[in-house]
Amino acid sequence: MTDDAFNVGQSEWYHPTDEIIQNAHIPDYEALYQEAMQDVEAFWGQRAEVLDWFQKWDKVLDTSEAPFYKWFVGAKTNIAHNAIDRHTKTWRRNKLALIWEGEPGDKRTFSYHALWREVNKFANVLKSMGVRKGDRVTIYMGRIPELLMAMVACAKIGAVHSVVYGGFSEQALADRIADAQSRVIVTCDGSWLRGNIVNLKQVVDEAVHRSPVVESVIVVKRTGQDIHMEPGRDYWFHDLMNLPIASPYCETEVMDAEDPLFILYTSGTTGKPKGVLHTHGGYQLYTSTTLEWVFDLKDDDRWWCAADPGWITGHSYIVYGPLILGATSFMYEGAPTHPYPDRWWKMVEEYALTVLYTAPTAIRGLMRFGDAWPSRRDLSSLRLLGSVGEPINPEAWRWYHKVIGKERCPIMDTWWQTETGGFIITPMPSVSLKPGSATRPFPGLEVDVVDEEGNSCAPGVDGYLVIKKPWPSMLRTVYGDPDRYVDQYWSKYAKQGWYFAGDSARKDEDGYIWVIGRVDDVIKVSGYRLGTAEVESGLVSHPAVAEAAVIGVPDEVKGSVIYAYCILVTGFEGNDALVDTLKAHVRHEVGPIAIPAKIEFVDKLPKTRSGKIMRRVLKARAMGLPEGDLSTLES
Ligand code: WTA
Repeated sequence: MTDDAFNVGQSEWYHPTDEIIQNAHIPDYEALYQEAMQDVEAFWGQRAEVLDWFQKWDKVLDTSEAPFYKWFVGAKTNIAHNAIDRHTKTWRRNKLALIWEGEPGDKRTFSYHALWREVNKFANVLKSMGVRKGDRVTIYMGRIPELLMAMVACAKIGAVHSVVYGGFSEQALADRIADAQSRVIVTCDGSWLRGNIVNLKQVVDEAVHRSPVVESVIVVKRTGQDIHMEPGRDYWFHDLMNLPIASPYCETEVMDAEDPLFILYTSGTTGKPKGVLHTHGGYQLYTSTTLEWVFDLKDDDRWWCAADPGWITGHSYIVYGPLILGATSFMYEGAPTHPYPDRWWKMVEEYALTVLYTAPTAIRGLMRFGDAWPSRRDLSSLRLLGSVGEPINPEAWRWYHKVIGKERCPIMDTWWQTETGGFIITPMPSVSLKPGSATRPFPGLEVDVVDEEGNSCAPGVDGYLVIKKPWPSMLRTVYGDPDRYVDQYWSKYAKQGWYFAGDSARKDEDGYIWVIGRVDDVIKVSGYRLGTAEVESGLVSHPAVAEAAVIGVPDEVKGSVIYAYCILVTGFEGNDALVDTLKAHVRHEVGPIAIPAKIEFVDKLPKTRSGKIMRRVLKARAMGLPEGDLSTLES
């Protein structure tokens, strides 16, 4: 968010129509917020009644080991029961759960009953491969229905899934497999992107080579090109699903509300990615409640969350949230501009999609192609729009509102994180909007912008974003590293017991929150969360690079792009050919999303006397800004 955006946007109101308010699940946000805050535990306890539990809880929230909070203590449940099983006992068994389109144009649909059968069959396949309650399964796939099935099948048998986004490569995947100690991987031969095949299986082969803990690899045939299948280790998904062991009946494991559901690796301030851990009970409640109230999902909706299931947005709002609500979701495999820039709008028209939820970077990317592409398509089915992943600049907001939403569709700008599991700062359709602000906290959440000491910042003053009360879908720990959990999120405001989000923000006179961006070494490239450390270690793993420093620099479309500064090993020459080599190397090791937009060779990096790289100085130099206080700079 820029100062300009704040100054203009602050008084630029967009009010909902009476019709929208009347039809909304929550017609009066303010009243509900006040009610929830009077007794937050009672609020969540009451709402939890809409889900099925095998056994009710003894206590909604246990704070005795804070910050290791426990929700719905003593309750027995399984998110797969609420997401799939229970719908097959109602009229929804024949409702569409998923409509899917592949990039080449192939289509598949699944009713709740059909999805339930596939999930059960695959759950039995996993069991036959020796996967038991608590075991970790790594999933590395394109955006295809089997990805969703594999996730829910893991949950059903009590296994913990660790989905790795298909845009990561060898080393990133190998590190995540090793950290989770997954013995089974589910993948596909490839996936379609911009008319090309992404060779996912090849990446898996190399990653498994680097992390030999893997015993079995299950491969979905998607693209059909020739791939290597390692005898005794690799199995085709379709072969396994045709065996008698793949019976469509699989008992759903009875889980404790606090049993782990998944690990999702995300970038932090330093070092290797953290395995953010979420559990069955609180997560199922929070994702479904937030989705229902914020996007006002009803049975006749066709919901499209255009994220990737490999990120938290997909976990919560492609897979679990919509399934728990019994909603119909749409999922698309490929690129928004393939073969033409109207691909998304064509699909909205063709499937009569009613809600679209995407990232500012996608909106800005499509906006570049002009109004003609969306204008030639009938977008009248849309009634609501959403944004996530980074601050949305007011120009993109207005374009989205006018050209896509035809000034009829309110935009839900949702601020949240992998760690929060669901929307934290977000409007609802009945709330008045300002372009660029995620508005106010969700009921039951207390959010503030504070200074170093924890004093609440006055309107217009930048500070740190904190969450002052626990919420049901909060991360429970960093997998295998509880100290890091405490240190990263709970140490800055340990005295007050607040969650430190790692973002800076500003409130306005109306109490609306304007998120500015990360205050740590996390870079959001096209909405994807990357750590400087990951890209740097990718660079230094090349023999030519002695040391590397990476920064995020603002970009009109992508939000941020990566600039890298490298010190070379003596004897290597910093030329254009080496720039290309290093870009290819980063693509191969970390993934295409981590490729630096610019690589510069330097003799020296600005460092503090204690040897810490001063990224602030690099950033100021890159942007031609004053370098600020250099008193701690090493001479
Ligand atoms: C940023 C994505 C401004 C923020 C769900 C946060 C946002 C990080 C917004 C988490 C938004 C997410 N406005 N910034 N609406 N949504 N962010 O874990 O910096 O991939 O800390 O989760 O994205 O990224 P993550």
